[in-house]
Amino acid sequence: MDSIIVRGGNRLSGTIQISGAKNAVLTLMPCALLTDEALTLENLPRLADVDGFMHLLNQHGASTMLRGAGNGGYGRVMTIQAEKITSTVAPYDFVRKMRASVLVLGPLVARAGEAKVSMPGGCAIGNRPVDLHLKALEALGARIELSSGYVEAYAPDGGLTGGTISFPLVSVGATENALMAAVLAKGETIIENAAREPEIVDLCNCLVAMGAEIEDIGSDRLVVHGKDRLHGATYRVMPDRIEAGSYACAAAIAGGELFLSGARADDMHPTIAGLREAGIEIDERDDGIGVATNGAIRPVTISTAPFPGFPTDMQAQFMSMLALAEGTSVLTETIFENRYMHVPELSRMGADVEVRGRTAVVKGVKELTGANVMATDLRASMSLVLAGLAAKGETKVLRVYHLDRGYERLEEKLSAVGADIERVSEG
Ligand code: UD1
Repeated sequence: MDSIIVRGGNRLSGTIQISGAKNAVLTLMPCALLTDEALTLENLPRLADVDGFMHLLNQHGASTMLRGAGNGGYGRVMTIQAEKITSTVAPYDFVRKMRASVLVLGPLVARAGEAKVSMPGGCAIGNRPVDLHLKALEALGARIELSSGYVEAYAPDGGLTGGTISFPLVSVGATENALMAAVLAKGETIIENAAREPEIVDLCNCLVAMGAEIEDIGSDRLVVHGKDRLHGATYRVMPDRIEAGSYACAAAIAGGELFLSGARADDMHPTIAGLREAGIEIDERDDGIGVATNGAIRPVTISTAPFPGFPTDMQAQFMSMLALAEGTSVLTETIFENRYMHVPELSRMGADVEVRGRTAVVKGVKELTGANVMATDLRASMSLVLAGLAAKGETKVLRVYHLDRGYERLEEKLSAVGADIERVSEG
């Protein structure tokens, strides 16, 4: 199993190319199930989850063709064609490894009239139910049954019918499933209290490129006019705002100046506001974002919230940065109930963090020290790599497969800007 070894203390300087967004790709790939024509996705990141989703689509009968890219190997292109859906089952083995597999549910029921998808179950950051996904499909006329750990959904008379979906709380995944189902439902669908994350906008834009009709894209009330069929399209995946935010924290922690090429500031204002409050200089440019530190990190108080609030996917990385702030920061996690799994590991590196319920009080320390650490989810693993960049001595981050799910060639990108970081394989 691979580990990442970081020797802290190097300043960072240079350009990091930001990859296509993981969370966008994982909702754009299932769109291919909505049409018998080819969907070509550009700017695809090289990630374990993308490979996993590709195999899931193959298993539903879609053909996939993956091409490398000229841009230093970044930004691959994948053409997916689901001429026929040969299986409407998403087996446990796929879903258990990758929660986002549940995003085939909406497209399969909408196109094939049925789907049988394994329930994702709990995960490292909490319980994460899918009840809202199911309620959305029910509002479009689907019948849902739960049996033997699977969700079985049927569209009576073979098709879904438009309706009003009113979410009691904001869910990114449930909004995505609702949208992908509604575009092929008969008549009009209204989605109230929809998630407004930039990845939802990316999904809407891709669906529109495929012939869907969606009003008020980017708002919390989406109106979808269903179509009999969608057609193929070529669509470029948006840049990864969480990857960009993570590297901005790297510059803040290690010190130095980075240019995050391709990062889109418009998608990142909550993160940028947090960084600026912490004293990090951010230069918003058309072609990317410049990040520079001018000394000390200031403490901040931040609560996670659905977009346009501060992203829960940036909470762990901010905590590593604030562990070195001059004063006490307060972080509150409002989205997931169990998203402080990185705290004990950061504490082992010398951070002073006290968790009280959903709030973490982070008292800045002068120095962190390297240790062997591991995390149970993707962003928590990144927070440990970031802490390692500043820590005295060597930090060994175990269970690197979490990082490989969401950060394209992490060690290459960081070592190219001066970090002392390498991947080692053991056994
Ligand atoms: C997505 C992102 C994840 C991010 C999260 C919140 C992907 C692949 N993942 O996850 O990186 O951290 O948004 O921005 O895009 N909930 C329910 N019932 C449901 C669905 C959700 O109660 O049916 C709850 C969840 O437990 C959580 C909250 O709603 O407390 C928000 O979750 P949601 O927005 O659905 O997250 P995901 O789509 O799973």
